[in-house]
Amino acid sequence: THQWRGIIEEYRDRLPVSDTTEVVTLREGGTPLVPAQVLSERTGCEVHLKVEGANPTGSFKDRGMTMAITRAKEEGAKAVICASTGNTSASAAAYAVRAQMVCAVLVPQGKIALGKMGQALVHGAKILQVDGNFDDCLELARSLADNYPVALVNSVNPVRIEGQKTAAFEIVDMLGDAPDIHVLPVGNAGNITAYWKGYREYAGDGLATRKPRMWGFQAAGSAPLVRGEVVKDPQTIATAIRIGNPASWEYAEAARDDSGGLIDDVTDRDILRAYRLLASQEGVFVEPASAASVAGLLKATEAGLVDPGQRIVCTVTGNGLKDPEWATMGAPARPEVVPVDAAAAAARLGLTPQD
Ligand code: F0G
Repeated sequence: THQWRGIIEEYRDRLPVSDTTEVVTLREGGTPLVPAQVLSERTGCEVHLKVEGANPTGSFKDRGMTMAITRAKEEGAKAVICASTGNTSASAAAYAVRAQMVCAVLVPQGKIALGKMGQALVHGAKILQVDGNFDDCLELARSLADNYPVALVNSVNPVRIEGQKTAAFEIVDMLGDAPDIHVLPVGNAGNITAYWKGYREYAGDGLATRKPRMWGFQAAGSAPLVRGEVVKDPQTIATAIRIGNPASWEYAEAARDDSGGLIDDVTDRDILRAYRLLASQEGVFVEPASAASVAGLLKATEAGLVDPGQRIVCTVTGNGLKDPEWATMGAPARPEVVPVDAAAAAARLGLTPQD
């Protein structure tokens, strides 16, 4: 009876639902806020990780999707559609099952992680691989939703943002106030928009005394907000944020400017280094795109932009199991094969017998 009830029940009065709305939920949210010891040492700050990979389908998208599917169902939709780099589609597919709706997903051909494709498949979504990138998929999804009886559940649907803003509520609820800086990866820019809205609402209602500076990081090959122009052929190994024309462009700029924050880029090499640091030194396994926040924090620290003593939260957006290829690929050594023999195993492990 004391289980976390999902973001809609936990924050019902702050979300666009009525008393009679039937909620579609997998009990998303309530994710761990984990103190990051090594990152705190490196920055001289108090760094926390908001581990969104702990959501039911393994990413932050579930917060927005419980809202989007709840409202679509309430409005009588029989089918939903989304464009995705993999996580939105995994989430939409799962929540559509709960709502007994048909789910169609459009993904860039060959550019989504295997685990995410597996999720859409096993949840029974209708999957189309589009011969194009995410931006092409989103354009196609919008035009299908405009012309056919299918509801769009991308973050251009404002109720997605409403659901995702609850992550900021949880952080303030746990820390007692907003952090000084909030760092997160930026792709289609829905999440930075949502966090900023959440922090503004809590501060506006006196539940926080301040708002954080919002720091967003894009992958260097897919950094339209940093370049100030659309990137026609976005590239990065962090496929989740391989996006050249973010839908929430103006909102991301507003979050940056109104918070006194920044949006910068990080190279794929920086991303993979942060990815390995998180796993090997903090014990937190995330997917590559998620590590862009931490890569950005480290880059900013090296550039002298991080004053010591601040409280910083980095959102890590998705679970490492979604895209395990990167965990095995650069691994220092392959696990050795041993016979079923304690002495042989001990020898390989460098263990000597106890007296
Ligand atoms: N991290 C992960 C793991 C993501 O899947 C995404 C976006 C982002 C960060 C960026 O968030 O788009 O709100 O700025 N994934 C979308 C998808 C595009 O289709 O799953 P954003």
